Amino acid sequence: MPSGYDIILVLKITVSAVTVLLVASLIFLARGRVKLHGRLNLLFFVLTMSAVLAFEVLLRIGPYLEPGWSVTNGWTVFHRQVLRVHLCFVIPLLFVMPLMLLTGLKHWRRIHIPLGILFALLWAGMLVTGIGLLPHAPVEAWNP
Ligand code: HEM
Repeated sequence: MPSGYDIILVLKITVSAVTVLLVASLIFLARGRVKLHGRLNLLFFVLTMSAVLAFEVLLRIGPYLEPGWSVTNGWTVFHRQVLRVHLCFVIPLLFVMPLMLLTGLKHWRRIHIPLGILFALLWAGMLVTGIGLLPHAPVEAWNP
């Protein structure tokens, strides 16, 4: 099994890439290219959900393939607490994202736009706690 740090690093790169897609979709929206906003966000949705699914499968099969394996092996108490806070953003996002796709496809603007604000806040919190604070290398590697 790859180490938890390697998995977190791959996730950080993936989330950065889909965030670029999301920002591009909002720029197109601001320029009136609504269809392109929708297309990019469909791609954003499929890629993000696939990454979440792949991560979930790894978390489940890891301990079977390598007894004692866990993504949080070697993590400090601080990083474990950050993970808890991070999940407070991730879990609501798993519900809000499909709703964003549905309300966008149905053109339910009165729900899609306010929900978009909640979505943006949750996404920002997920980015700060995930990309900013979760460890992609052992602490000793940061403070040699
Ligand atoms: C984050 C803030 C967002 C805002 C402010 C926003 C806003 C909008 C607006 C104003 C429309 C046009 C609605 C209409 O035609 O009546 C739209 C369409 C759409 N949005 Fe969003 N959106 C956001 C994020 C998202 C996300 C995250 C997704 C998907 C996960 C998404 C998916 C769509 C889709 C599929 C459409 C339909 C495009 C089409 O006409 O083909 N949007 N959005």
